[in-house]
Amino acid sequence: MADGALYITTPIYYVNDKPHIGHAYTTTVCDVWARSMRAAGHDVFFLTGTDEHGVKVEKSAAEHDTTPQEWADRNAAEFQKVLAVFGLTNDDFIRTTEPRHTRQVQAFVERLKATGDVYLGRFEGWYDEGQEEYHTDTKARELDYKSPVSGRPLVRAEEQNYYFRLSAYQARLEALFAERPEFVRPEARRNEVLGRLREGLQDVPVSRTNFRWGIAMPDDPEHVIYVWIDALFNYVTALGLGDAEPGPRQRYWPATYHVIGKEILWFHAVIWPALLMALELPLPGCVYAHSFWIADGQKMSKSLGNFVDLPTIERFLGHYGLDAWRFYMATKGPLGAHDADFSARHFHEVYTTDLVNTVGNCASRVTAMIGKYFDGAVPTEAPDGSRILVAEHDWPALASGASESSLEAIERLDLAGSIEQVLGLVRRVDGFINLTEPFKLAKDPGRRNELGAILYQCVESVRIAAHLLEATMPERMSQLLEALGGRIAGPLADAVRWGGLQPGTQVAKVALFPRLEALDQLAPSAP
Ligand code: MSP
Repeated sequence: MADGALYITTPIYYVNDKPHIGHAYTTTVCDVWARSMRAAGHDVFFLTGTDEHGVKVEKSAAEHDTTPQEWADRNAAEFQKVLAVFGLTNDDFIRTTEPRHTRQVQAFVERLKATGDVYLGRFEGWYDEGQEEYHTDTKARELDYKSPVSGRPLVRAEEQNYYFRLSAYQARLEALFAERPEFVRPEARRNEVLGRLREGLQDVPVSRTNFRWGIAMPDDPEHVIYVWIDALFNYVTALGLGDAEPGPRQRYWPATYHVIGKEILWFHAVIWPALLMALELPLPGCVYAHSFWIADGQKMSKSLGNFVDLPTIERFLGHYGLDAWRFYMATKGPLGAHDADFSARHFHEVYTTDLVNTVGNCASRVTAMIGKYFDGAVPTEAPDGSRILVAEHDWPALASGASESSLEAIERLDLAGSIEQVLGLVRRVDGFINLTEPFKLAKDPGRRNELGAILYQCVESVRIAAHLLEATMPERMSQLLEALGGRIAGPLADAVRWGGLQPGTQVAKVALFPRLEALDQLAPSAP
């Protein structure tokens, strides 16, 4: 991964939709990564925002008897409001109707006109009105001339428009994919893009004349900049890259990760890098396209009543707490090539197994024993100067192995893998307690040193685990760290070094994750 400043982005969400699990998911994935990288000592910028132009916004505003700007303001506020609900730590929230964005988009398009990459021409193709997207003849045939999203027929459309000379970037894009296999992840998604790339690229429209609600084309205000082109630029306008004086945020470019859902991969993996090439800007490190949440085994839909919308999510948050929600998103979400199924039953199982029975139980057992046998003061690991190796467990090595693997995994955006390393450590602590039976040793005053050594190793491992899990579960893990005498300042690599917890530190008994009844259905009103 690149050194220095790091930058992670979510897609900017359409203001026409209400926030739901899909949006919350992508933003939470980015948040866990951003928090981890910050904790590791990096200078991180984390961006999310809203996509506010286009026909759909124009139409909905009219239907609601209001102006597009009013409508966008109202819905963008909904998205902003939920950031806190999910504990998200974005550094900025960009809205495509903000002057800082529109001004820079115009400047970029002007530059593209000047280089000849944007030209006025005529275009004909298969248009998906809902998605505001054109498909090639081959693709349209494959789709049976229906929108893959709404199922509505594609329409044959012809326009005089400005076009971006995408076809000129075929060879450079192929070279990019060959030279940087990690540019699009996961692998299955990369292969899809490569397959389509080999069919050959056509130029794409960058302006429209069929709607007004958008950014005017420089020097030709009859034309409005196509909403996708407008939207993609958010990643650089938020950093001020299109301004004459780009300012301090330019150090974050190129993005380390653009995290998106698989349905918008083409724009990000092909059109976006080609635009950047045309502008001679560096390319992002990785476009990461995750799969989808489905619910109860089916595609989410309002008519089936299985849509995991904000009120549904709030029931889960109210019942299980924010950290449990974030943990479920991070460990069971569709970051890989396959869709993930959201079900209340699965959520409950994961909560009970991993949080109540593993993390919570281990932390409470260890802190309770220190309370009982050492009056809450952390015992000494090696009272006579030599480490006691009990039951062949080399805890410093085990803990540092788990920390290193966990940090490596998170850098690769493997959230589940990163967390699994830590859960593995916690499970080992539990196993070690069962094996060494400190509660029996406590009855023998002659084995007090051994008892202290065992409990030191357990509590120190739990402390390290808490640091590593804090990006995913900020509330409960900071509560745990407080109970263990407070967090160790400085970069994560230092905080998780063995021996950080000083003997004599007072620790308090903790109860982190209460055992709960299952929430048995997704929506209260579900049939
Ligand atoms: N505005 C465009 C993106 C422009 S980015 C320059 C857009 N917006 S959207 O509101 O439709 O959001 C799409 C994103 O929401 C997906 O890419 C994904 O991140 C998230 N999700 C929407 N539904 C989802 C699921 N069912 N599951 C997981 N995430 C999905 O497209």
